[in-house]
Amino acid sequence: MKNNFVFRGVPISYRDEGSGRALILLHGFLASHRLWDDQFEDLTKRYRVIAPDLPGHGDSGSLGYLHSMELMAEMVHALIKHLGLRKVVLLGHSLGGYVSLAFAEKYTDKLKGLILLNSTAAADTAQRKVSRDQLIKMLPKKFKMVISSLVESFFVIYGHRRITSLRKYKRWALQCDPKGIAANVRGMKDRKEREIILKFAPYPYLIIGGDEDPIISIEQSEAEARLNPLGELIMLEDSGHMTPLEKPWFLNKLILNFLRERVY
Ligand code: MLT
Repeated sequence: MKNNFVFRGVPISYRDEGSGRALILLHGFLASHRLWDDQFEDLTKRYRVIAPDLPGHGDSGSLGYLHSMELMAEMVHALIKHLGLRKVVLLGHSLGGYVSLAFAEKYTDKLKGLILLNSTAAADTAQRKVSRDQLIKMLPKKFKMVISSLVESFFVIYGHRRITSLRKYKRWALQCDPKGIAANVRGMKDRKEREIILKFAPYPYLIIGGDEDPIISIEQSEAEARLNPLGELIMLEDSGHMTPLEKPWFLNKLILNFLRERVY
């Protein structure tokens, strides 16, 4: 079921289904809560699953010039408060993972566990910062073209699943508010490196990566899993950046195993 709450005067939309212990899913750049349709289908049989649209995405409003990871983590905290939840497990895909780490930094005591999916605790490299600036410049002029080619670069799967996934993802991306998207790009560019959050995490965490992810390197994911005895890595073969769309049912199994064996 879709709901709304107001954060800093702006509507934030979220889907909230199932009952029991809470799992919050944070989508990546240019997606929306719709990224998690297949997760809702399976995971709500055992857990309460909540997925907001991050600011500037889906049906949520934008919060100004800069959507910092800290600001979006505040929004997640406000949602948790709004729902009256005490502790949650957070799963963040890519940008959602960056937000999860900012949340973990400030609200450690609210976390029971953390899953970083195609994401990292590293900051942007100098080269990546330059490409973020180029993207911000091009967005107002060529929104549709830039967004389409960006989305295409996220996938490594082929055939029918690629076509249907791309079609869906492009639809979500083109629904985003261009100003909100630029605000998110600025936020990702400025984000802090947060390995220390993983190193001292007092809760179990799981890193799930794709061996062909063009954005997150295998070496980085391996190093982040090794930072803490509570860390674990699962590297998927023949997988790109879009695990929730490329391997949705396998992803559900990994999440359920993690929750059952390591968290609850
Ligand atoms: C995402 O999928 O959220 C973004 O591609 C992450 C990024 O650009 O760093």
